[in-house]
This record gives sequence, C-alpha cells and structure tokens, in this order.
Amino acid sequence: MHADMVLINIGEVVTPPGPGPRRGRAQAELRRIPDAVIAIRQGQVTWVGPRTAWEGKATAEVDVGAAAVVPGLVDPHTHAIWAGDRLNDFEARAQGVSYEAILAAGGGIYQTIRHTAGASVETLVALARPRLERLLRSGVTTVEVKSGYGLTPEGEIAMLRAAARLQDEVPMTVVPTLLIHVPPREGREAYVEEVVTSLIPKVAREKLAVAVDVFVEQEAFTVAEAERILRSAQRHGLACKLHADQFHVLGGVELGVRLGALSVDHLEASGEAQWRALAESQTVATVLPGVTLHLGGTPANGRALVDAGAAVAVATDLNPGSSPLFSAQMALALAVRLNGLTPAEALTAATANAAIALGFQDRGWIGPGSRADILVLNARDWRELPYALGADDLIQAVYVAGQPVWSRE
Ligand code: NIG
Ligand code: FE
Repeated sequence: MHADMVLINIGEVVTPPGPGPRRGRAQAELRRIPDAVIAIRQGQVTWVGPRTAWEGKATAEVDVGAAAVVPGLVDPHTHAIWAGDRLNDFEARAQGVSYEAILAAGGGIYQTIRHTAGASVETLVALARPRLERLLRSGVTTVEVKSGYGLTPEGEIAMLRAAARLQDEVPMTVVPTLLIHVPPREGREAYVEEVVTSLIPKVAREKLAVAVDVFVEQEAFTVAEAERILRSAQRHGLACKLHADQFHVLGGVELGVRLGALSVDHLEASGEAQWRALAESQTVATVLPGVTLHLGGTPANGRALVDAGAAVAVATDLNPGSSPLFSAQMALALAVRLNGLTPAEALTAATANAAIALGFQDRGWIGPGSRADILVLNARDWRELPYALGADDLIQAVYVAGQPVWSRE
C-alpha cells in the first residue's frame, strides 16, 4: 500500500469506531489504538492501526512525538456571521433582565439584525473570518454557519453569500444554513408567505444553503409556521433543522422528528416525552452548553437523552447573544460538566454525531474511507481534550482532508 503521507509515532488514536449516528450506549464506545500509524492518500485515511502492523510505504512521514490523535471536531451549529455586539444585553442580564424579556422588547436578536441587515457581504466576511479562525484553532474541521440576522430576503441572502465567500478564506468545510430566526415586528403572515414562496426557492435554486432552520419559541415562530417553512424547504430539496425547547416546550422537537430533521438543537426545556421522541427517531439531539454557561438556567439533559437511546451532538452555538463561545473543544468539555455526558460520549457528540447533524458520514471518525480530518493533541492522553478548560495550547496541529492547515508553531 502506498500512502501520500503517514502520521507515525502516535501515542494513541482515539476515535468513534465508524460513521455516526452513534446512539444510546454506543455513543460511549471508542476505538483506541496505542502506538499507532495513520496512512493518508488523496485526502482520505486508507489505513490506521498499530505501528507493528504497518507494512506500507509513504511519500512523506510526519512524526507526531507520541501525541494523542483524535478526529477533527465538527461544530454543527453556529451563527458566526454578525455585525455589532450585544455587550449591553450582557450587562443588563448581569443585572437581572432576562434574555427573553430583552427579545420581547425588540432588543437581543433584533438588535443584531439592525446591525447586520444593512452590512455589505465584504464587511460580514471580514467580521466572521477571525471567528472561524478561532474555531479552527479549537479543532474545528467542519463548521455550520447560519444566516438569521438578515431578516429580509435580501439580508438573509447577503449572509449566505458571506458564508459562501468564507469557504474560500478558511480551510475547514463551511456548511451554510438558512435560518428563519424571528418574525418581523409587523406583518409576520406576509413574511412567512414570502419565505415559503420566494426566499426558500431562490436559496435552493442558487444553492446558497443545504438546510433550513427555524427558531420555535414564544418570541419567535409557532410550530404551525415552522411546519409551513420546513415543508417548503423539503419540497425544494433542503434539509431541516430546528431551534426547539430553549425556554418552552412548544412541540418543536416533535415537529422535527415528524419531518425527519437532521437535528433539533437546544432542548434545555425538554422532558421525558421529547427525549423518547428523539430516541425513537433518526434526528440528532444537539446540546449547546455555551448557552447554559452564558445565560444560566437548566442545561439540556444530555445524560437522559443518551440513556433514552438518542444520538447526542454538541455545538458551540457561537453567536453574540446567547453563546459567545469560540472553542469547540470547550463546548465538548462543557458537555461533560453541564449536560452530563461522559468524556467518551462527549467526543462522539463533537465528532461522529455532529457530522450526522450536518448530513456527513465521511467525517467525525478516523478509519479507512474517512476524510483525513485529524487533530494532533499537545497531550499524550486524549482525555485532556474533554478535561481542560481555557487551555489554548491543547491542539498541536489540525489536518483537513490530509492537509496540515494549522499548527501551534
Ligand atoms: O441559538 N435562540 C435563538 N437563537 C440563537 C441566539 C441568537 C442570538 O441571541 O443572537 C441561539 O441561542
Ligand atoms: Fe443557535
């Protein structure tokens, strides 16, 4: 076997054993290969196993100095494109004003819309690029980026064009999602009509997004409105996602399950019925511990979801209002503290299951046929990854499709 490159002297490779979704107990099952070699050809892993069993040849060899190696992280939920800031919200909330009260009064997400909707694509790209670079340094090799601060069709399309431009400027895969985030303060019926009959068809036609997401909440959209929007998405060949059960259980989870959504995200308010519905579905349950850290409140019960048999993913939800979390490694580590996942479950949540939440089978694991998205840790034991909080030197090198795209030196 001839490889383009081999990573040698790997202290341990730790990975979900194959593509997701890994649900229930299986979420904790990792493949661990001590003293390992990974062979890569044309951007894909062709072989992984113990050094003593490697018999192939390679054009290039990279000695990783006994480091632990894990799959590149997938961040399946971000709002990385925004203009302005939410520092006033941050201060107000610290003085006791709630996120929902700010939103209901026309601030919060609406404030970010006021700053973002008029910005040029160039400005949006320039603002978002350093945020994605931070995520890259935290180990992200595939990232979802939502629109949702444009509000008008033109504003949403500008955000999606910015996402497309960002793909040319950062090495990780950028997956664009059209987010129908909050209704205009007046004329919501006409707005939903325009989204369904004009915006979604145009986005699909111009291939500006691969999925449509709707925020179901008291201050956002009803289940009936979300269903109309997402059925239009499906008719146009786009996948579905939902922000559901963040503050109130309104039926967003059940809608997502009914529509076969790729994922439903948030789930802080979900209970037994929603955990069971997700466990019996193909839909990934994505938890967002950065929101709990930033806003307070009850975390999504990742433990109950896994125990019920669901496939759980974790994301940063990077956004200015509810989760200014610029590290997918930290999201993974917080999923252990806040959502009750074990370290092994959290690794699967941030890799194989997060990949499925974006529709990818070929990443989030390391094995023959996987895309060679690889993190070399600045550690010999992979558990430093879910363990460390605030360490910015934990990742030694990031490979995307076999290419070294970032390293600490
Ligand atoms: O995922 N909850 C709705 N949307 C985002 C927050 C967006 C914002 O506050 O700007 C979220 O939490
Ligand atoms: Fe979000």
